[in-house]
Amino acid sequence: MVSEGRMGRITGNRSGRLSLGFWIAFGLAGTVPLAGQTTQPATLRQAAALWGIPIGAAASDGEYGPGLDWLLNPTYASTLSTQYDMLEPGNAMKWDVTQPSLTTYNFVPGDTLVQFAQQNNMIVRGHNLCWHSQLPTWLQSYAGTATPAQMYTLLQNHIAAVAGHFKGKVFAWDVVNEAFSDSNPTTMGDSIWYNQPGIGLGSGNGSATDTAYIEQAFRWARQADPNALLFYNDYNIEGNYNGQSSNPKFNAVLAMVTDFVNRGVPIDGVGFQMHISPQWLPSMPSMAANMKALATLGLEVHITEMDVAVPVNSSGLASDSDLATQAQIYQNVLEVCLEQPNCTAFQVWGVSYNDSWLKGRTSAAGLPFDFNYQPTPAFTSLMNAWENAAHVMHQNYLVNSAAANPAGIHAAAVTPGELVTIYAAPVGPASPATGQVGANGQFPTSLGNVQVQFDSTPAPLLYAGPGQVNAIVPFEVAGQQQTTMQYTYSVPMTALMFQNSLTLPVASAAPAIFSQDQSGGGPGAILNQNYSLNSSTNPAAAGDEIQIFGTGGGAVTGGATDGGLWPAVLGSLVDQPVTATIGGVAATVDYAGPAPYLVNGALQVNVTVPAGLASGAQPVVITIGTAQTQPGITVAVK
Ligand code: XIL
Repeated sequence: MVSEGRMGRITGNRSGRLSLGFWIAFGLAGTVPLAGQTTQPATLRQAAALWGIPIGAAASDGEYGPGLDWLLNPTYASTLSTQYDMLEPGNAMKWDVTQPSLTTYNFVPGDTLVQFAQQNNMIVRGHNLCWHSQLPTWLQSYAGTATPAQMYTLLQNHIAAVAGHFKGKVFAWDVVNEAFSDSNPTTMGDSIWYNQPGIGLGSGNGSATDTAYIEQAFRWARQADPNALLFYNDYNIEGNYNGQSSNPKFNAVLAMVTDFVNRGVPIDGVGFQMHISPQWLPSMPSMAANMKALATLGLEVHITEMDVAVPVNSSGLASDSDLATQAQIYQNVLEVCLEQPNCTAFQVWGVSYNDSWLKGRTSAAGLPFDFNYQPTPAFTSLMNAWENAAHVMHQNYLVNSAAANPAGIHAAAVTPGELVTIYAAPVGPASPATGQVGANGQFPTSLGNVQVQFDSTPAPLLYAGPGQVNAIVPFEVAGQQQTTMQYTYSVPMTALMFQNSLTLPVASAAPAIFSQDQSGGGPGAILNQNYSLNSSTNPAAAGDEIQIFGTGGGAVTGGATDGGLWPAVLGSLVDQPVTATIGGVAATVDYAGPAPYLVNGALQVNVTVPAGLASGAQPVVITIGTAQTQPGITVAVK
């Protein structure tokens, strides 16, 4: 949690006990500030952190039996944790590991990898929930005689169990993997989920638009883990290969996700696997174009499984010239990703040549670390890419202050008046500056040489420091579909200016409750009736009126001023109907609107705790219009 002092202390809310800084500190929980870095990065992880983009590797740990426990190899483990800040289980979350029989699950290998990640401050991508490959043997025979209705239930239960088990630990899931065929024209690939026998949705006739089972898998995944980003992941879709002018497989995926977005099917992004080689290479402009096409839909792209296979000798080693060619390909791909605002993660498929799935093939040696865990030329070229690429604002540089997912990565819609965190590393002030309310009663719109505009309106700034700026979205964006946020940093002395922009969707209300926890979930920023902080040791009783604090309530009626403090006198209400539930039971809303002495846009909702709830932590949800606060926030009840 960001310390209170850092955000400035403005005392004097109704109770006199809690400050604006206090609540903003809650608001920033879950958004981990990037460390100010003055020395040259030495590892991929350090370089990626300067950009605010996670870099990952596929990882394994004995999921296929003893002897393959890679984490026990200290060099493997230290390479993984020092070079990468994200990992993805290469196999441990697939069906053949997680569901060894119809009625049993095995999460041990996945848990081991998650634990390693947590111990090393890494985030985890989940892979995968629905695929035609690496199925347990029992399932192949089961599918031979099962009805589609049985397959439907089976997949539903599996997704609920697996995504449910890893809920809050996995920041993004590959929900469906490799569903399209490589044939031209592209069709849906045969699988037990699609047509053999399939889960009973869609015709199973092989048309590329028959994506009903995929849609259902995404809906189940969102139910099981509402905070995880949901991806469709595939290979040979990255761009136009080998000089071709289009890529039918990408077009089929694009058609599917366009349809999903248009109909509100929950999907956040597309994974480009990136298993490529000098002989099988997408053009870089076409890759950028594909990312742009997905950006138009508001979707992110993760490079999920990159390796660049080159011819190897009997020892598995490649020639210097092939390694140089490979290195250039790595650099080009990473630069394309860094220059597209919606490319928000970069991952390679394995830690070293030893554990690469390419090992033993005639083309292999595809990774930035060799058999001795020594960096290859690809490592150096990746380091160069961070230096070379034009700096752009990335979609995951903007985080809703109260609703960050565990990774601190959340490309959310912005709401008038809400507090947001912008990661703009590496271009920003070297020392922290805290906004103070000026004579005009408002927060400044220029701080530490940083300015942020939403369209033409300057945003009030609460904090500007190394790699992190906290701003308030101006009320002027209300009623718009989208807004262009422009970030400007005037580099002191050198008369240099860094300026970049990001187009974001605008929601009329995207409320989120400030949390007391790093995860952005757990105990809410809630005061009991006597103004003391609600907690497990200080619960509220039935009939008490509690105060819940948050952000993103949408425009309030009555002339709210950007970045001003709301006066002690309560006047205006949120401009949409507000309801609340505690423990699933309707709770009377006594007040919803601006919070006295807190910055405009911060939201206060007073709610009466209903009778009859079990004692302990109860989920609390506030609904404004149709928008709900994030799941996982609790209030302690007596
Ligand atoms: C590979 C694993 O790395 C191997 O260990 C396993 O034997 C086969 O699968 N696309 C994917 C990954 O989505 O899950 C695959 O992983 C590689 C291709």
